[in-house]
Amino acid sequence: MTMNPGRIVAGALAPHPPHLVYAENPPQNEPRAECGWEMLRWGYERLRADIERARPDVLVVFSPHWQTYVGTHFLGLPRFQGLSVDPIFPNLFRYTYDLKVDVELAEAIAAAAGATGHPVKMMRNPDFRVDYGTIISCHMARPTWDLPIVAVSSCRSAAYYSVEVMQDQALALGRATAEAIGRTGRRAALLASCSLSHRHFVVEGDLPEDMSREHVTSHHNYLWDMRMIDLLRRGRLEEVLATMPEFVNQAVSEADSGALSWLIGALGHDIAGEVYAYGTVIGTGNAVVGFFPPEAA
Ligand SMILES: [Fe+2]
Repeated sequence: MTMNPGRIVAGALAPHPPHLVYAENPPQNEPRAECGWEMLRWGYERLRADIERARPDVLVVFSPHWQTYVGTHFLGLPRFQGLSVDPIFPNLFRYTYDLKVDVELAEAIAAAAGATGHPVKMMRNPDFRVDYGTIISCHMARPTWDLPIVAVSSCRSAAYYSVEVMQDQALALGRATAEAIGRTGRRAALLASCSLSHRHFVVEGDLPEDMSREHVTSHHNYLWDMRMIDLLRRGRLEEVLATMPEFVNQAVSEADSGALSWLIGALGHDIAGEVYAYGTVIGTGNAVVGFFPPEAA
């Protein structure tokens, strides 16, 4: 039996402010909200529909909040269950999760990345608490949780070395991800779980969903977000990579995690992004952007 070669059917910049899940009021999350951050949530709704149309059979998510420092780790058991509480916003996010993992694909990506000399490790502890970045991006992109996921950690090399080192590693990891997806015959949707500008307010109002308080922290950060979104929309992904060191430093971007560079490395070529939404959450800049590589003839 021959297996169809796999491919990346969708990629997305899929930020993970817990506020978005809070405002959606899913049964898994304990706190209740009245409303809030609608533009981002409605954007996510349209991304969801387009991802669904691309018929993925797995979500591969790279999260800044699984911070492993020594190499890249992957969830390595078929199922993880637990309660995820956002350490900064426990008032907004107390989420009971029960997720499936595509262990075969996770191992294939780890092997491909490991073959390049990058340290990798499979997380086999059944009591491991999955980070909220992974959970929130997956929930917002696919709230039915009907697909298995592959969760990829961030080794935070921007913090330990430099944005350039981070980006070299993330691009290689992205290429390894694409190669493993091809080899295992998967139709994968990739989620880069991060905000753009990431300077945020340090005081929360009495009502978190009071939208009269929500705006970007500074015009400087807004200009940086617009510059990056313009490049993403026009498909100038090489230029996104070239601009990344300055962007991370100027806008304190959460792309320092490597999530966006990993996605670009996996896509492997310039492709125009569909911008579904831009909005701020506690002052941080967030864009929901989809990339849909055309099916090969
Ligand atoms: Fe975050």
